[in-house]
Formats: sequence, structure tokens, C-alpha cells
Amino acid sequence: MNPTTEKNKRKTFGIISHPDAGKTTLTEKFLLFGGAVQTAGTVKRNRGARTALSDFMEIEKQRGISVSTSVMGFTYKGCQINILDTPGHKDFAEDTYRTLTAVDSVILVIDCVKGVEEQTEKLMKVCRLRSIPVIIFVNKFDREGRNPFELLEEIEQRLDITTCPMTWPIGIGSTFKGVYHLYNSSLNIYSASKTKKADDYIEIKDLNDPKLPKLIGESLANSLRDEVELVSNEFEKFDEPLYQAGYLAPLFFGSAINNFGIQELLDTFISVAPSPQARETLTRTVSPNEEPFTGFIFKIHANLDPRHRDRIAFCRICSGKFKRNTFYYHTRREKRLKFSSPTTFMASEKTVVEEAWPGDVVGLYDAGNFKIGDTLTEGENLQFKGIPSFSPEIFKELENMDPLKTKQLDKGIEQLADEGLAQVFTFTLGRQRIVGVVGELQFEVIKFRLLQEYGASCTFRAREFSSASWLSMEDDDALKQFSASHRHNIAHDKENRLVFLANSAWDLQQAKSKFPTLKFYETSEYR
Ligand code: G4P
Repeated sequence: MNPTTEKNKRKTFGIISHPDAGKTTLTEKFLLFGGAVQTAGTVKRNRGARTALSDFMEIEKQRGISVSTSVMGFTYKGCQINILDTPGHKDFAEDTYRTLTAVDSVILVIDCVKGVEEQTEKLMKVCRLRSIPVIIFVNKFDREGRNPFELLEEIEQRLDITTCPMTWPIGIGSTFKGVYHLYNSSLNIYSASKTKKADDYIEIKDLNDPKLPKLIGESLANSLRDEVELVSNEFEKFDEPLYQAGYLAPLFFGSAINNFGIQELLDTFISVAPSPQARETLTRTVSPNEEPFTGFIFKIHANLDPRHRDRIAFCRICSGKFKRNTFYYHTRREKRLKFSSPTTFMASEKTVVEEAWPGDVVGLYDAGNFKIGDTLTEGENLQFKGIPSFSPEIFKELENMDPLKTKQLDKGIEQLADEGLAQVFTFTLGRQRIVGVVGELQFEVIKFRLLQEYGASCTFRAREFSSASWLSMEDDDALKQFSASHRHNIAHDKENRLVFLANSAWDLQQAKSKFPTLKFYETSEYR
């Protein structure tokens, strides 16, 4: 076995959607089709979007103990598929952005009744930024949804991507009869079934085949002929290189709950989705075919059970072969570490692995060595790029409520920042700490976890900052002048990079125009 042959068998993708579009259902059906699970209900739903904090913490607690929902592997037609789950809740969007750095492609689920929703737009922006190839699954066609042409127009406009329908729906909701394959003239007739594992295709010569009206009725056959003609005039044809470059999104219609449309989605996915790709480091590009092992940490999952304080760091393997009980080089800490029980996640099972290959994700038990973005190698000094911090949207000052627990609070907030739960900025002047997050719920989670896990109690005081910008340090004099005149807005992030916390968009604009030689970056990754 070598990295190239193993890599070629693997496909690692992220599944994204607005909450409730059907991401969990689709994931579960993938596992069912792959034979990895026998029954539905195995994949835990992340109900964060609709629940109160207490329920949310309970869910996270369960997920902390059984982290299998974060990564799920299964085999399908000889392919090893790794699905990386992403939180749907918008307050945890950063977690999703980071997960997207560890995938080679994405499947996006859209609810045909609701169309493109806000969260979908944001997630797709990240995919576009990284040129991640995307396949779209328009779900819930058993319900009275929107007209498919209208939906596709909305998808193209709001997500800024060209779509390429691979199948076309016949009817919708109560009249939904199935889908027509635009590329191999066959019909997949719909029947509601929650258990079947394969679709029955009916070959037809073409749309004038006399079998067609017998199968779907005269009126639907007529509209299908008209619609398919329109589709071929209005939409791009499938083109693999364009899909792989992230410009063209093949699109399928179906109903995940009824196992309908899953097989054609999976079959296309394994034939066109990219296998593990080369990845950039600060110094060079690492090819997945290289013999030496390299990987990076893209997610850290805390165990919320106070009896088990350890965390799991998720490492995406980029090249070579990862082996259990072997020393690897942690490039940031400049130290060697070995892992006695690395785990992989097959469906709902978590198992200790002896070896893993490019594209795989292994869970490493961690007592505090890792931060998001850390790189492991066999000795080479590398740092993988691609895990930026974005400017938070809400900023609050951390206040210690128990001076006797200062050390615990310091350690706790540092570790939570390492996990990526929040960003912490420390003022150069005064040393106050500003915690920045994307959604209010994160403050509640931080407060709860600091108390539960570190025994530290804190509160948060609102501060009027509107954005964080990372400053480049090239022009030393300008930087000194700027820092002196903006003392109350200059802080350091946890990597000690200089950050400007602007009070308003106008202030940021003013700062930019007064100091034209300084560069203000929207993300921490500007090197
Ligand atoms: P999410 O992970 O994206 O948040 O969505 P999830 O799969 O949990 O699905 C959200 C709801 O949509 C669920 O209903 C699910 O059963 C339903 N659903 C998923 N696919 C389809 C489909 O193809 N057709 C229809 N009609 N519904 C679908 P729920 O009532 O919220 O939960 P449950 O009681 O069914 O578990």
C-alpha cells in the first residue's frame, strides 16, 4: 500500500445546509446506501438551531461523548468516503468554515420549499473563496415546493454559481412521479419508501418513447418534453474540469427521507468528486502522494463530561501514512508526540486505527497540546495554510467574578480559544481581554464551560466594537504612529498578531484613509 493508491480510493467531503433542509437525513441515507448502518435514526440530529441553551448543552454533551457525528466514514462501490459534518447553527459558523478547510468537495442540501436561505449563502461564499467543488441536492421534492426553474434561478443568482441539472423532476409534491436522467435517458420512478437501498431505473429510448406516457401520464410526459428542451437551452452541460475548479455545480432533485435520488447522487459523486488534493503550507505545496506523513488539526472537540477532561483533536491527513504509536513532529510546539489510540469513525462506530491515509481524518486524544491549525509532520518544519480567523461580529469584555480563580479563568479562556470557540484579543494598554464571537449563544456556552470545566466564574460586558482587522507590520513608522493614536483600539490576538478593533465601519474607513501605507486585513491569514 502506498499513499497514491490509498489516496485514489478516498473522497472526503463536507455536507452543508441551512438547518432543517435535510442534512442529517441525507447523511443517514448515505450510510444506509453504503451498508454502514441498517436502520435509520443512527445519526444524531443537531437541534441547536431550535433549542434553548440548556437543550443545546445537553446535545453538545452527548456529542462530546460520542463524537462520531463529526466525521463519518463508509465504503461505497470500492470507494472510502469520509463525510465531515458541519454545525447548521449560524452561531457556530466558524466551526463550519474550519471544517471546510479539511474537505476536498462539498454537497449542499437545499430545501425545495424554502429555496436558498441565509446560512446557505454564507457557507457557499466560503466554498467559492476556496474554489471547493460543490454538488447540490434539492431535497423534499415530495412536498409542494417551488417551481424547479425558479429555484435554479435563485440558486444561481444568490449563490453565484452556475448550476448544471443532472436529473429533472417530473411533477412536484402530490404529483411528484420521479426524475428523468438528462444524461442517460432513463427514468427513476418515485415511490415513498424509507427502507429501500437502490433505485429502479427504467430505460427509455428518448423522450418520444411510447413507454413514457404510460409510465407518467400524457400530461406530465408533455410537460417533461417541454421542460427538458428548455433545460438544454438554458443550462450548462456537465463539464468535469469546470466542476472540479468550483465553477459548475451538478444538481440533483430528490427526497432524502424517502431514499429517493440518493443513489444517482452517490454514483455521480464517486465518479466525479476529487480525491484528496495537494495542500498549501507557508513554504511549499504538499502533494498527497508524498511518502512522509503530514496533517493538520482543523477541529478540537472538548469532552463536556467533567469526569473526562481530555479533548479530541481532529487531524486531516494530507500526505503519507499515519501510524499509531509513532512519534510525529508538532511544528508549532517543536516537540515530538505519539498517539496510542488514534480513532477513526466508521458510521456510528469509533475505532482505534493502526494506520490512516491522505483524506482520512483521525481523532487524537489531547491533553492541551493542540490548537486549531497545528501541523504534524515526520520532522519537516511546515505550517499548513488555510485556517484563517474571520472578524467576529460581537465583542464583549471578559470580567473575572472570582479573583481566587484567576489562574483557572486564564487557562480556561486560553483553551477555549485554542478550540476555536471564540477569539480573544488582549489590549496592549490595560491588558483587558475582549472576547469576540459570531453569535450570542457562544457567550453562554463559554460562561457555562468555564464554570463547569475550570471552576471559574465570569461575566461579559458589552463593548462597542464593530470589527477586528489584522494589521500588517511592513511600515514600522506608520504602525507606531497608528498605534499611538489608537491606543484604546489596539490589541493582540492569541498568536500575538496586532489587531485593530474598530468602533464602527466609518472609523475603520477613516483609519485606512489616514494611514494609506498600513494594510488592514479582514482575516488573520494574510501571509
Ligand atoms: P438538518 O440536519 O439539515 O437540520 O435536517 P434534518 O435531516 O434533521 O431534517 C429536517 C426535517 O426535514 C426532519 O423532519 C426530516 O424528517 C425532514 N425531511 C428530511 N428530508 C425530507 C424529505 O425528503 N421530505 C420531507 N417531507 N421531509 C424531509 P422533522 O419533523 O423535523 O424531524 P423528524 O421527526 O422527522 O425526525
